[in-house]
Amino acid sequence: MKNKFIKIVQDTNLFLKNFIKKQKKTELIPSMNYGLFSGGKKIRSKILLDIGLFFKVDYKTLIAVGAAVECIHAYSLIHDDLPCMDNDSLRRGKPSTHIKFGESTAILAGNSLLTMAFEILSNSNLKINDKTKVNLIKKLSECSGHLGIAGGQFLDLSFEKKKISKKKIIGMEIKKTGKLFSFCCMAPAIIKNKSLKEINSFEKIGSNIGLLFQIADDLIDYQGSSKIAGKKTKKDEKKGKATLISLLGYKNAIKYSDKIKSKIINNLKKYEVSSKNISETLNYILTRNK
Ligand code: IPE
Ligand code: IPE
Ligand code: MG
Ligand code: MG
Ligand code: MG
Repeated sequence: MKNKFIKIVQDTNLFLKNFIKKQKKTELIPSMNYGLFSGGKKIRSKILLDIGLFFKVDYKTLIAVGAAVECIHAYSLIHDDLPCMDNDSLRRGKPSTHIKFGESTAILAGNSLLTMAFEILSNSNLKINDKTKVNLIKKLSECSGHLGIAGGQFLDLSFEKKKISKKKIIGMEIKKTGKLFSFCCMAPAIIKNKSLKEINSFEKIGSNIGLLFQIADDLIDYQGSSKIAGKKTKKDEKKGKATLISLLGYKNAIKYSDKIKSKIINNLKKYEVSSKNISETLNYILTRNK
């Protein structure tokens, strides 16, 4: 498990380094590199590979699509840490991008990483037919904008210090985190021209994996060590973030996450994706401490 992870991290970083190297040098590249290569588990790429290899999608294609996802993820973290958002100065054990480079540069580096994802997907080196590429780009845009990450981040901030229902918290977490996982689960089915029904099922599975991931992240904030996590912990409560832990309590949040995990595994079984890799990844998501 760990070795496979390392290979995905290395191959994704290599892809991204080569992609950036082929572009003209600009002043924003150091801050973009800092947001992209300062660490990071590449868990979204791992899920994309778990499902993609099951669908027999070519490994190199999956690494490229995963790299696009990681650009969007890196952008979302740079912006998430800004003073106008979560105001966090530590990320992956290092100063956040805006601390290192200043706020305006961090915003622009984030914008550039967001658009770079679509440069990767539309690049002629990516060997997928054009119609499928357009479908991937459409889905990834939806998952990133107001229907996905950006919309979810808006809700996350507007829910601070308010009493929010379980349904609304889950909806917010699915948008801010779940949608990108949805894309990772859907992309292989899109690439392999599967039916809309099947694509939609994988979208649903992905949003549950993302929800599980965010609950685990909230648990790390609640009980984790800042040194191991690489970011300040015990901050959600101070900020009055609406999480399932703040609403249901620690024990019930864990119970809920176990329920979601069984649901994901059952749904995957329907598609005979009873793959060892995916269950390993789900276990990792729940037991990780960073
Ligand atoms: C952190 O994501 C932000 C959330 C969506 C919870 P990750 O935990 O995947 O961040 P890195 O890339 O591994 O640092
Ligand atoms: C971030 O959630 C979700 C994003 C889409 C960036 P958090 O705000 O909980 O992530 P951390 O804890 O700062 O990594
Ligand atoms: Mg946040
Ligand atoms: Mg945050
Ligand atoms: Mg968090």
